[in-house]
Amino acid sequence: MLKITFHGQACFEIASKSSTIIIDPFLTGNPLTDISPGDITCDAVLVTHGHGDHLGDTMRIATENNAPVIATFELACYLQKKGVQVHPMHVGGGHAFPFGHVKLTPASHGGMIDAEDGPYFTVPCGFLIRMEDKTIYHAGDTGLLADMELFGRFNEIDLALLPIGDNFTMGPDDALIAVSLLKPRLVVPMHYNTFDLIAQDPEAFRKRVEAKTESKCKVIGPQESFEL
Ligand code: NI
Ligand code: MN
Repeated sequence: MLKITFHGQACFEIASKSSTIIIDPFLTGNPLTDISPGDITCDAVLVTHGHGDHLGDTMRIATENNAPVIATFELACYLQKKGVQVHPMHVGGGHAFPFGHVKLTPASHGGMIDAEDGPYFTVPCGFLIRMEDKTIYHAGDTGLLADMELFGRFNEIDLALLPIGDNFTMGPDDALIAVSLLKPRLVVPMHYNTFDLIAQDPEAFRKRVEAKTESKCKVIGPQESFEL
């Protein structure tokens, strides 16, 4: 049994019996979150890309938990220079960690790393995460990708975390197409309502997913959890 907790924007904690990971820990400055980086206990930090609303509090959380950051090579190199423990990977590559297996997927988005001494660049990614007997796809920030059909064909995805905010990522229309390609058991929308520019009605999205696809959809607010 995995416990999935949402912290707003693209930040999710996934906890198994033995390990906890956090993805895209943007907490400081996140208007939807009421926890602080000091509240997080984790074994690894996964970061999809270098934008501030994803990289967020990664350095502090990784350092305080003595946890590695799992990210693309360039982002990992940048963080390592800052004294953070890292595990560099790249798109298409997978690795078995003590907590589970992680594979980096392509994502179509911007590659700039928010750094005071930048600019640094990488490519953004998503994650296919295998923990216990579950497969979770975190899309990161991305537009609709034909690749999603492959992810769906070759993985039995239990949970897909998909952006629906539009403007910077897929909006609800394309996210609905993504669901039809990925064929996940459950979809949880993310990356909406954090800022006015990405305001969406997640309940309307949920209804469309459940009317037009075989997938279930769950809308959860920040700080809410569910069991998978
Ligand atoms: Ni982004
Ligand atoms: Mn973003």
